[in-house]
Amino acid sequence: MAADVPAPDAVPMPDAPPGPATDTAHQDVTSAARATGDTAGRRPVTRTLIAVGVVIMLAGVLFGYDQGVISGALDGIKKDFNVSTFLLEVITSWVTLGAMGGALVAGALADRLGRRLTILLASLLFTAGALIEALAPGAWVLVIGRLVVGFGVGVASVAAPLYAAEMAPARLRGRFVSLYQLAITIGIFVAYLVDYVLSHSSSWRAMLGVSAVPAILLVFAMWPLSDSPRWYVKAGRRAEAEQALRRVQGTEDVDADVDVIQASIDEDARSGATWGTVFAAQWRRPLLIGVMLAVLQQLTGINAIIYYANQIFAAAGFTSPDSQSLATLWAVGAVNVVATFVAVAWVDRFGRKPLLFIGTTGMGLSLVVVGAMFLKLSKVTPGSTAVGATTGEGLITLVALVVFIASFAFSLGPIVWTIINEIFPSHVRGKAVAVATAANWFAAWLVAQFFLTLVDVITTTGVFWVFAAFCGVTFWFVRRYVPETKGKSLEQIQSMWGDPAALAAAMAAE
Ligand code: BGC
Repeated sequence: MAADVPAPDAVPMPDAPPGPATDTAHQDVTSAARATGDTAGRRPVTRTLIAVGVVIMLAGVLFGYDQGVISGALDGIKKDFNVSTFLLEVITSWVTLGAMGGALVAGALADRLGRRLTILLASLLFTAGALIEALAPGAWVLVIGRLVVGFGVGVASVAAPLYAAEMAPARLRGRFVSLYQLAITIGIFVAYLVDYVLSHSSSWRAMLGVSAVPAILLVFAMWPLSDSPRWYVKAGRRAEAEQALRRVQGTEDVDADVDVIQASIDEDARSGATWGTVFAAQWRRPLLIGVMLAVLQQLTGINAIIYYANQIFAAAGFTSPDSQSLATLWAVGAVNVVATFVAVAWVDRFGRKPLLFIGTTGMGLSLVVVGAMFLKLSKVTPGSTAVGATTGEGLITLVALVVFIASFAFSLGPIVWTIINEIFPSHVRGKAVAVATAANWFAAWLVAQFFLTLVDVITTTGVFWVFAAFCGVTFWFVRRYVPETKGKSLEQIQSMWGDPAALAAAMAAE
């Protein structure tokens, strides 16, 4: 519907206030920003742009849903298939392994097929994977379904933000990035809600199958839209680029904008970034920061809790599946969404580093408390219902997990993605972001794959204290290596890596 209606339905919108996720995105007038065609100051928000917002939201919700849903499904799967702990971990974690593969090939796919077709392909993969999961006759078919869904998640996790960034005018780009992170947390919340509603029947097939719904909605949302102007120009299809720009901007005269896009593509082609450039000594520091933050975001344990929340609450004395799902829904799901709003509001006012320091401190302390409580509580295992009534330790665990989730959601959750997307120079950004994203998925896989096994080997307390120790490592790493990027344009950040004085000043700014 939206795509063919340019100006008439356009509503004027004042320039957005400093972007929620990153104000530097708004100041970015380098190739990528100009490539969005936002060379004029004030532009209306067209229906096409709103439709692009819907696409990015649906992609985020899907991502989150597939992350969150497994928590409520595990017990039913264990009962039906009578699987080992290892196989349960495989069922949980291979979605991230698929996502790692998807993230790695997404860039090449999006360049070859276009952003639009790539997102459509990802939606079809989701749908197929969801159906395989829902109908799986045995555990290994379920694993294949998880891999297929994961691959779709990985492709979409690169292609959807890329598409949105190329469609949005520069002044709205930060908004679109944070919209995506918010949508991920909403997706996790919706998954928990579905888990809760279905927890009585322990219908894990329906829980997993429901993710086909947003996937099909994504196909409908994407179908009428065109590809990004930047992709058309790159493919030598200037007329289509002009038409796409007219629709997205709601203006007729787009010639100059297409020229700007062409110039920026030529510029990037001249600098000829290869995989070697990404690993060049010059960019070692931002690459180290991007990859380390991506990995530490996972090694501090967020997804152990997102995935195994019900099992943790069962061990903490929440005996009925109902009470476990409720604790997961509100203490993890809702708190995650609300605290993400805080980051959206504060990241540009307080800066990245202060929020990271406060967040990792809150995460670390709450994990120490959770670990201490598990000295008394029974260990976290799948299918462990009826451990006894909720005790004082159980309630303290609940409160500590709320503090942990909130601390993550206003710090490491969104800010890691903000930093990853702003520290690389434009000509290596695509590849470098893919490397960091794949590292993030790999670390997510490690945690999901070995959490329960590690509980067996070093006890639940031991595992939570290891996560706490990684919070300490993150605090140290941020202090030692990460410069403050708040309020800096992408050019300033880029030149900082070769300018020791500017880097030292940014390191000192806390
Ligand atoms: C992380 C995900 C995590 C989510 C939770 C994201 O920033 O990358 O792994 O599941 O936050 O909200």
